[in-house]
Amino acid sequence: MGIEFEPLSNRWKQDPYPTYRQLRDEAPVHYAPESDHYVVTRYEDVERVLKSPDVFSSAINPRQMPGGSQSRFAQLRRALTSMVQMRVLPSTAADARFLIAESGESHSAMRGVVNRGFTPRRIAAWGDRAHELAAEGVARLRSGDPFDLVRDLAVPLPVTMIAEMLGVESERMHDFKRWSDAFITGGTGSTRGKEGDRLLFRAMTELRTYLRPIVKARRKNPADDLISALVASDGEADLNDFEIFLFIFLLLLAGNETTTNLLGNTVDALLGHPEELARVQSDLSLVPALVEEVLRWDSPVQMLQRTTTEEVEWHGVRIPKRAQVAAMLGAANRDERRFENPDRFDVNRDAKSHLSFGLGAHFCLGSSLARLEAKAALEALVPELRGIERVVQEREFVDSFVIRGLKRLELRAA
Ligand code: HEM
Repeated sequence: MGIEFEPLSNRWKQDPYPTYRQLRDEAPVHYAPESDHYVVTRYEDVERVLKSPDVFSSAINPRQMPGGSQSRFAQLRRALTSMVQMRVLPSTAADARFLIAESGESHSAMRGVVNRGFTPRRIAAWGDRAHELAAEGVARLRSGDPFDLVRDLAVPLPVTMIAEMLGVESERMHDFKRWSDAFITGGTGSTRGKEGDRLLFRAMTELRTYLRPIVKARRKNPADDLISALVASDGEADLNDFEIFLFIFLLLLAGNETTTNLLGNTVDALLGHPEELARVQSDLSLVPALVEEVLRWDSPVQMLQRTTTEEVEWHGVRIPKRAQVAAMLGAANRDERRFENPDRFDVNRDAKSHLSFGLGAHFCLGSSLARLEAKAALEALVPELRGIERVVQEREFVDSFVIRGLKRLELRAA
């Protein structure tokens, strides 16, 4: 089977979709020796992976689930272990619970600590703030100054929002962005391995130094923010100090890279489809449908990793126990068995059943927030895109096999 799985290559990045189609048609479970992953691409199969946590586990702790060096978040685990060995971290850190890798009751208890902050009603209360931040970004485009959609709107909006929700200073936005970039590219980009570990190690040390006094202050004087909710978790999930740190780290990170790239991917799609742009411009009530269609058509998270807890025989392929499985969200969303004419970017379709926020117990905690931010940004931005063009035609992508998005998207009046 001559399909090469090389999601970090420029060729793949420019357009992974023809390869996804080939995989769905010819090798729905494809073993990729390049990365030692079993790659699953059909909608129904990705759905099965995400809905069967007993077989396809999210665990990352080597004690619970010994995975290979490619294992999900292996870098994070390695960096933690060496930080414990160097006594930079307490020994409890090596076994720390991490929301995204927990299962069963432990997972529900951890999620319960922050759920209240993410209900659709709580999130709706942030609507005005999202509109304010969107207006600030768009004002710059209007001013005629050099405008990079990523730098000037898609990064500051979600980073500021999550910083304010956590109760940390949004002035440190550039540091938050740098730390989450270190995790994404260090853990899932071409520098993963030794250099990636170093990046991640440094970022975690800086973030921990920054957060320590803030967490301490919230213990003394709780406020109405997510960090206070985390430190008040005693009795629910009983998070230790290091687990609180990991939780904050996850919230900062998950809320940044994803929404930033959703916004970039949306504008990229609209510039390539002027008739769809015109349609949304003439009726801004289509913005929520636009957001769902971009999530389907060009998902910011392209894959989720899981580890098998038992041998699985599937589509004629034997997946051994403890193998790494890549559930390709980006490919499932383009499955012709699920979506009609899936390669067509069509704002009028009902795209809501895309898998871009995952499925099952780990379904994205921030989906309402991401939708609110995207709606605010695009309602402000779409009317301004009349007569706007890219400064540079070539598209340069984020260096990650998980995240899909543009590094920059400079725009100017045509
Ligand atoms: C367009 C934007 C976003 C996309 C595409 C996205 C995607 C995802 C996906 C696919 C998962 C499932 C991971 C898994 O099953 O292993 C997930 C989980 C998660 N997301 Fe999002 N996300 C977005 C925005 C956000 C935002 C704004 C936040 C806010 C803090 C957030 C917080 C989380 C958290 C905490 C989890 C882990 C949930 C758990 O393990 O129970 N996400 N996200």
